[in-house]
Amino acid sequence: MAPSMFWHTNLLALCMLFSGFLVSCHQTDNLNILKENRNQISSSSNFLFGTASSCYQFEGAFLSDGKGLNNWDVFTHEAGHIKDGSNGDVAVDHYNRYLEDINLMENMGVKSFRFSISWSRILPKGIFGDVNMAGIEHYNKLIDALLHKGIQPFITLTHYDIPQELEERYGGWLSSRIQDDFSYFADICFKYFGDRVKYWVTMNEPNLMAVRGYRLGTYPPARCSGIFGKCSAGDSEKEPFIAAHNMILSHAAAVSIYRTRYQKRQGGMIGISLDTQWYEPFSNSSEDIAATEIARSFYVNWFLDPIILGRYPKEMVQILGSNLPDFSKNDSSKLSYGLDFIGINYYTAKYIKDCLYSACEHGNTWSEGSYFVTTEKDGVYIGQPTEVDWLFLYPQGMKKIVMYMKNRFNNTPMVITENGLAENDNLNPSITDTLNDIHRVNFMHSYLNSLANAIREGADVRGYFVWSLLDNFEWLEGYSLRFGLHYVNYTNLERTPKLSATRYKQLMYNFHIQLQTHTAQK
Ligand SMILES: *[C@@H]1O[C@H](CO)[C@@H](O)[C@H](O)[C@H]1NC(C)=O
Ligand SMILES: *[C@@H]1O[C@H](CO)[C@@H](O)[C@H](O)[C@H]1NC(C)=O
Ligand SMILES: *[C@@H]1O[C@H](CO)[C@@H](O)[C@H](O)[C@H]1NC(C)=O
Repeated sequence: MAPSMFWHTNLLALCMLFSGFLVSCHQTDNLNILKENRNQISSSSNFLFGTASSCYQFEGAFLSDGKGLNNWDVFTHEAGHIKDGSNGDVAVDHYNRYLEDINLMENMGVKSFRFSISWSRILPKGIFGDVNMAGIEHYNKLIDALLHKGIQPFITLTHYDIPQELEERYGGWLSSRIQDDFSYFADICFKYFGDRVKYWVTMNEPNLMAVRGYRLGTYPPARCSGIFGKCSAGDSEKEPFIAAHNMILSHAAAVSIYRTRYQKRQGGMIGISLDTQWYEPFSNSSEDIAATEIARSFYVNWFLDPIILGRYPKEMVQILGSNLPDFSKNDSSKLSYGLDFIGINYYTAKYIKDCLYSACEHGNTWSEGSYFVTTEKDGVYIGQPTEVDWLFLYPQGMKKIVMYMKNRFNNTPMVITENGLAENDNLNPSITDTLNDIHRVNFMHSYLNSLANAIREGADVRGYFVWSLLDNFEWLEGYSLRFGLHYVNYTNLERTPKLSATRYKQLMYNFHIQLQTHTAQK
């Protein structure tokens, strides 16, 4: 069905279905808008609504069909890293149940599925071994099955996992050799899948990988200095910047291959997804405002400035000096390929307080930019707390982060590649409460409203992906946090839609109407 037909024929049904819902649904008004604005409706219907996932958190099939070991396999199998002692060996068995999962997506009416490719499933030993054709075959089947239902594959090349071989041979992201390995992998993916895949994300949250893998040591390869954590080796003041430098150049190398060999023929877009938080100055003092800009530089602009503007943020250059690697002439020419869209993973906000000029009892070290991060001011949280300790509700930050990116990066197209809310299993013994997740529906509603406001003010946002399609393996938290629109019973792996899965249609519809009303008023 053509998208404009979809909105037309389903309008009445949706209005009746959700008449008691958050949004008042004035049928006649909306129908008039529909009739008057067919063209805009269909163009706004190109907006890519979807759900997101990643291979390690979803697939399972640990060493099936020739897959090699990756860094997360090794890390989760070492005792003590994961809260509930679990791992992704089975996860939610999406590798075997993908057809069932695509049916769930079809029922929700989403247009796209964000998933990542397991690097060690395609290249069990990276560049040092053969291509595993069974891995290629698996993703071919997944892509074809999605397209058969009209769902666009939105592919991340690496979502934290790398073949363990690369870690052991040369120290993974710490070595510039990974640039060749990553471009080799990317090339294979474009070659085998790019005829049908129009959206590529090179990496998911490289900023988080650099900080957790090489400063705090909480993610593999678990490297850090003594004052930051308990690691057997590492240098928290230098290694995050070296790893990040290699991630940035690996992204650039993959984009350069896509641009020069595939993009013209295949016609897709390529970007990168960053972990973002909205940073609010603790006060209006010029020091706190400057510290807030430093915080942005040391987290997101750290990656996006080099990729889009060709250089590190000036705050990082000033503070880090020679601890920040340089881009060689050759590097700079690779960076000139930039990206086609910025992927934004947004959940929450923090206050930032200056520690460079002001006395702070505790703040980040100079190598992190010397600022204090807090979620509380005068005994009040920045937003309503949730069942997740780091997640405070801050929907207005969605608009703020998008407008910030719009202004800094000249309105480069953006996609919200993650946004979502979790339940904590330990606080919710009752399955009935978990399935009746009205709090998640309200969460999505408020964040989407904020996003619609940003688009009304001219931000070029092309899509929104909820984290996540299913409950899944939530890294250090194991299976204790449930981010899914579908409940997964971890005993028999049965999936059950939560209220949010059935309400997603209404949320998408409401979002389109908000944008149409705006267009109609212009
Ligand atoms: C900073 O100033 C703005 C504009 O005057 C005001 O809206 C805001 O509440 C102030 N923030 C703080 C933390 O005082
Ligand atoms: C820079 O790139 C050129 C052309 O690809 C190459 O010949 C040269 O060796 C490279 N220089 C360095 C330092 O890698
Ligand atoms: C999960 O599945 C097991 C095994 O079939 C069943 O005994 C249990 O009741 C299920 N749990 C829930 C919450 O439905």
